[in-house]
Amino acid sequence: MPARTQTKLPAAGLFPITAEVNAKGRLAIGGCDVADLAGKFGTPVYIYDEATIRHMCREFTGAFKKEYPDSRVSYSSKAFANPALAKVIEEEGLGMDVVTGGELAVAKAAGFPAAHLNFHGNNKGRQELGEALDYGIGRITIDSFHEIGLLNAIAGEKKLRQDVMLRVSPSIDPHTHLLTTTGILDSKFGFSIETGAAEEAVKQAAASEHLNVIGLHFHLGSPLFELEPYTQAVAYVLDFAAKMRRKYRFQLKEFNPGGGMAIGYIREKMPPAIAEYAREIAAAVRAGCDAHGLPEPSLTVEPGRAIVGRAGVAVYTVGGIKDIPGVRTYVSVDGGMGDNIRPALYGSKYTVTHVTKPAARGVKTVTIAGKFCESGDVLARDVKVPAIASGDLLALPASGAYCVPMASNYNMASRPAIVLVNKGKARLIRRRETYADLLATAVM
Ligand code: LLP
Repeated sequence: MPARTQTKLPAAGLFPITAEVNAKGRLAIGGCDVADLAGKFGTPVYIYDEATIRHMCREFTGAFKKEYPDSRVSYSSKAFANPALAKVIEEEGLGMDVVTGGELAVAKAAGFPAAHLNFHGNNKGRQELGEALDYGIGRITIDSFHEIGLLNAIAGEKKLRQDVMLRVSPSIDPHTHLLTTTGILDSKFGFSIETGAAEEAVKQAAASEHLNVIGLHFHLGSPLFELEPYTQAVAYVLDFAAKMRRKYRFQLKEFNPGGGMAIGYIREKMPPAIAEYAREIAAAVRAGCDAHGLPEPSLTVEPGRAIVGRAGVAVYTVGGIKDIPGVRTYVSVDGGMGDNIRPALYGSKYTVTHVTKPAARGVKTVTIAGKFCESGDVLARDVKVPAIASGDLLALPASGAYCVPMASNYNMASRPAIVLVNKGKARLIRRRETYADLLATAVM
């Protein structure tokens, strides 16, 4: 008998690497039937594929080590912070970035090694900084003059000298959504090189007894589908580093050009390969150092989205379907802007797949709406789907980054369950919130 050829999953490049159409003709991830998972854990549910997370960690470390041996990858935990994930990240040998005391608490809960943590953020508080120092954090990336004084004082009280990076702003537009653009002049983040603030920060930090400035950091924005902005920014910041070396004998031991590497949300817009980001960034660092006779610093990149984005798939159940003849068909699902604010906030686009007939051809154009009380609560506008009915399950791939972390309790909705799948096994890593959770902080 000829071997049964397996049905191909359309849009496979947007889904986790283990995603497939299984023998029942249904969507499976990590060897688990997605409809079965929805039955067991309820919907909305976010399914994360461990194999994809590990694969992306290895892609990054492999690509950057190949192009620039003295390099490290630090996962930006704002993309999705969870203790079980942090353990996987640590096992894969990555460092981790945090931006609040809360993300630091997640790292601590996972027993993440303090030396491999970097604390970012444009307005870290005294308490958060104290907690980070008490944990023995490896790096703090200073973002403002206020923070130079504050951190120097706290480190002084604790009688230590903290390794710090300075976040500079290179005035470069990476052509992403304005709300996720950070490295331009008009930004709340970092010390502007253009205005002279960065030079003043180098001077002040170097003169701070309890700070040990080891390098420079910048982050342009997110997601970056173009490579050129990295090249331009690396050149500009290394130029600045060389000037600081001439004037103040500043030594650039570490260099961090941030994260921002993109993922595919829709088939029509796919990102460069990780290897291309690595090649471009490494070449720019080497060229900049050559041009100025600078010793090559150690390099750290800090992707968030590209590590977990493709690994996560959101699954919803269809409720009401409203057909407005000649206008639009609204297909309402049981989640929406409460668990994924990205379409409403940035106009982000998503691809929609029918869970029990993932390979079926799209026959009707519909708009997938959420259940929240806002007209803007739309997850995907004008997408083609197969015949669809109430009770059907829909999957949105590329939902692993910045959906769950930006989730809210708007309309007093419970935030969804999160399941980690691997080799046919599913593990709940965050349970769905209950009404008791929602009321836990109310003071009667
Ligand atoms: N490093 C710094 C300093 C950052 O601010 C960020 C992201 C990253 C690294 C990681 O960027 P990634 O590799 O994940 O692109 N909520 C938005 C994204 C905000 C990104 C904030 N900073 C979204 O949903 O698209």
